[in-house]
Amino acid sequence: MYLEKLSLTDFRSYAQVDLSLEPGVTVLVGSNGIGKTNLMEAIGYLATLNSHRVSTDAPLLRFGAERAMIRAKLVRGEQSTVLELEINAGRANRGRINRSNPVRARDLLGICQTVLFAPEDLALVKGDPSSRRRFLDELLVSLMPRHAATRSDYDRVLKQRNALLKSARAGKFSTGHEATLDVWDQHMARAGAELLHARLELVDRLQPHLKNAYAQLTDGSKEATAVYRSTLQDSLDDDGATSRPAESGPADGAGAVTGSDAGAAAPVEDLRLLSVEQLTDRYIQAFAAARRKELERGISLVGPHRDELELVLGSAPAKGYASHGETWSMCLSLRLASYYVMLDDARTGGSPPILILDDVFAELDVQRRRKLAAIVSGAEQVLVTAAVEDDIPSELTGRRVKVIPGGIDEQGNR
Ligand SMILES: Nc1ncnc2c1ncn2[C@@H]1O[C@H](COP(=O)(O)OP(=O)(O)O)[C@@H](O)[C@H]1O
Ligand SMILES: [Mg+2]
Repeated sequence: MYLEKLSLTDFRSYAQVDLSLEPGVTVLVGSNGIGKTNLMEAIGYLATLNSHRVSTDAPLLRFGAERAMIRAKLVRGEQSTVLELEINAGRANRGRINRSNPVRARDLLGICQTVLFAPEDLALVKGDPSSRRRFLDELLVSLMPRHAATRSDYDRVLKQRNALLKSARAGKFSTGHEATLDVWDQHMARAGAELLHARLELVDRLQPHLKNAYAQLTDGSKEATAVYRSTLQDSLDDDGATSRPAESGPADGAGAVTGSDAGAAAPVEDLRLLSVEQLTDRYIQAFAAARRKELERGISLVGPHRDELELVLGSAPAKGYASHGETWSMCLSLRLASYYVMLDDARTGGSPPILILDDVFAELDVQRRRKLAAIVSGAEQVLVTAAVEDDIPSELTGRRVKVIPGGIDEQGNR
C-alpha cells in the first residue's frame, strides 16, 4: 500500500500542511526541528493510534488547539481509501473511513499499515520490558485489529484486580472478598490467555525473520533470537514439581530420572502448544499459587503484563552486553522482521506495509546504512527523513522533498 496524500490540521507544529506522496522512495530533507518527525509521527499514529515519542495525545495537538486532524488517502492495489482521524482534547478520538459517519478511532486500526524506524527504537533493546511488550502488542494489533480489544480487556481487568489486591493489602479485605478475587481471577485468566496465546504465536512468526534480517545487516557471525519469557511459565515451573500432576506419559517421567535432581523436576510444558482454554486453566492454577504473595504485595504478579521478550545475540542477552552497533542492528532487525511478517500476511490478501525511516541513517555507520538501504529500497513505499542529505546512502534513490518552516517547499521538490 502507499499514501498518496497526507493532510494535517493543528497537529504538532502544523496549523495546516498538505503533502502529496508517491510510491517508491521519498526522502524528506530539512534542518533539525523543522517538523519532519511530526509528519512521520502523524502517519504512524494513523496506523497504530500510538505515537512513537509520547504516551499521551496532548503533545500531538498544536499549542492551544482543542483538536487535531490527520487525513490521508491510502492506495491498496486498485482501491483507494480516505482515512480521517480527529484527536480531541478531553474526549474520545473519532475516525471516518471514506467520509462515512464517525466511527471509533479503534475501527481505523489495521487499515493503514506502517513499520516505523526511529532513534527511539534503541529502547527496544536498552529499555525496560514494557518497550518490548509494546512492540509485540502493536504489531499484533496491526496484523489482527481484533486484538486491540484483547489488550484493552486485559488492561481493564488487571486494573480492577490490582485495585482489589491493593485494598486487601490495606487491611480492608475479609475472607468474603476471596470470592470476588476468584471472579477476577477467572476474567484475568481468560483475557491473559488470549493475549499470551497471540503473543507466543507472533514471536514464532517473527523469529526466522529476525534471524535473517540480523544476518543480512551484519557479517553474520552472531545469531539473533527472541525468546518469550512468561511469568506463567515461571510460576508453573516453581509450582510444578509439588502440586501439578504430571501430564506427560510415564515414559517421559522415566527418562527424567537419570538427571541429578531426578524426581524434583516435572517435565516443562511448552506453552506454545497449548490452546487458549488450556492457558486459561494454567493461569487459574498460577493465580491460586500466587494468591498469598499477591495479597501481601497488593499487585498482580503473574500475567502478560509482567512478561518479557528476551533478545539474545549469540549466547548473551542483547541488553547489557551488545555493543552500540550490535544494539542498532538488533533494533533494525526487529523492525525489519515486523515488516516481513506483515509482508507474509500481504501475500495472503493484504498489501505490503509502508516503511518509515525517521532520522535513522544519521545513527548508523556507513556499512549498516548501505545494507539497510539495500533491504528497504524495494518496498512499495519508503518514507525517509534526514537533516543532512549526505547521510542518505546512494542506494536509496528516489524523490527528494524539502521540508521548510510550516510546510513543504513544492518548488524545491525533485
Ligand atoms: N504540540 C505542538 N505544538 C506546536 N509545536 C510543536 C508541538 N510539538 C512539537 N512542536 C514543535 O515541532 C518542532 C519539532 O519538530 P520535529 O518534527 O520533531 O523536527 P525534526 O524535523 O527535527 O524531526 C519543534 O520546534 C517543536 O517545538
Ligand atoms: Mg526528527
